[in-house]
Amino acid sequence: MIDGSIKIEELDQKQEVPLALLELADPSKEQIENYLNQGQCFVAKLNSQIIGVMVLMELSPTSIEIKNIAIDESFQGKGCGRLLLKYAEELNRKTNYEKLIIGTGNSSMGQLSLYQKEGFEISYIQKNFFLDNYDEPIFENGIRCKHRIVLEKKLK
Ligand code: COA
Repeated sequence: MIDGSIKIEELDQKQEVPLALLELADPSKEQIENYLNQGQCFVAKLNSQIIGVMVLMELSPTSIEIKNIAIDESFQGKGCGRLLLKYAEELNRKTNYEKLIIGTGNSSMGQLSLYQKEGFEISYIQKNFFLDNYDEPIFENGIRCKHRIVLEKKLK
């Protein structure tokens, strides 16, 4: 665990967006660009190195979504993803948002495990989302990623 040494901050508009990290979570540059334009980008830093990223975007007046969350491969599995999830939760607890939303693929076993361990509940499934919105087939854990599973955590 490297929790104590990690600093999370909003990315300055002048700073370069960590695109390679964002692409770990989302192979679509077009989708990334869309939510970067509308949302807030946060980075997790260890010393001055960016090791994680998260993009938050309002979905409705009462809900905010984690559109992208990614940790540098060499730092995965050390609690940094969980730290970013907790940060998003705390940041929005005292706002008008009632729900924190996150979506993932049907094949994303680790992510589904992490989000549910962190108290997110499956809300609904967008059938064929990845077939309809992504040009290239996505496989994880030997499973074709087809459907988007949307999870939510109550903030109030
Ligand atoms: N299988 C099972 N459990 C997993 C897992 C996996 N592949 N990956 C993480 N977890 C569980 C861990 O067991 C851990 O739980 P524990 O502490 O009770 O053992 C918990 O999730 C915390 O994991 P953490 O170390 O905080 O995860 P991380 O720092 O690796 O961040 C991701 C998680 C998903 C953000 C990171 O792995 C990543 O960037 N992946 C690639 C991009 C991506 O898929 N982003 C999400 C798109 S929906």
